[in-house]
Amino acid sequence: MRTHDRLRIAIQKSGRLSDPARDLLARAGLAFRESRDRLFCYGESLPIDLLLVRDDDIPGLIAEGTCDLGVVGQNVLEEQALERAASGQPEAYRAIRELGFGRCRLSVAVPNDWDWPGPGRLAGLRIATSYPQLLARWLAAQGVAADPVVLSGSVEIAPRLGKAEAICDLVSTGATLMANQLKEAAKVFESQAVLAAPAQPFGDARAELAAMLLRRLDAVLSVRA
Ligand code: PRP
Ligand code: ZN
Ligand code: MG
Repeated sequence: MRTHDRLRIAIQKSGRLSDPARDLLARAGLAFRESRDRLFCYGESLPIDLLLVRDDDIPGLIAEGTCDLGVVGQNVLEEQALERAASGQPEAYRAIRELGFGRCRLSVAVPNDWDWPGPGRLAGLRIATSYPQLLARWLAAQGVAADPVVLSGSVEIAPRLGKAEAICDLVSTGATLMANQLKEAAKVFESQAVLAAPAQPFGDARAELAAMLLRRLDAVLSVRA
């Protein structure tokens, strides 16, 4: 088992959140030495290390205690929290700070030539998504019964492949929807990057390190706001 005199933060290895996450930590005074495989960064200024991973793996890494904190999209965190709750697992992590970058929305999108009288338009149809829990919660709130089709990627081409009539996916600039002749019809969930931490407080030296990191992050975030 690893010792708990260092704090380990999981961030996205490559993607929308990786540069802003590293930039934020650098502004908080953290400096790192990268390993040759670029998966682990050793903290040189403070006993705080980084693990570079897929964003979707971050909630699980915190839940199992492999990482202590994570920078991840609220969309990923909330989807996996709902999944845990649905399968009877206890709450394992929570968002403790909103970080103000990585803003996007999870939206239902439909072919450009559709009329959109409202969510009822989706009744009985197949909706491709990587976020079945968030979609199901929204559909239930709308009182609409539809059929989620779970895909792990390339959700936007599902309608053209005949796998689904509509999609529910992340939208940032809207370029992906436009390139696939889809239009945004309804917003399901609004997201940004958050700092995630275990639901249970650290019972060792990590508590002190986490508190110091939060003081530094709060100073950086208040200047930005
Ligand atoms: C999302 C989403 C779309 C794209 C939309 O993927 O799945 O592919 O971004 O962005 P746009 O509106 O600016 O075109 P992303 O790469 O963020 O995450 P993922 O690789 O984890 O699915
Ligand atoms: Zn991802
Ligand atoms: Mg994508």
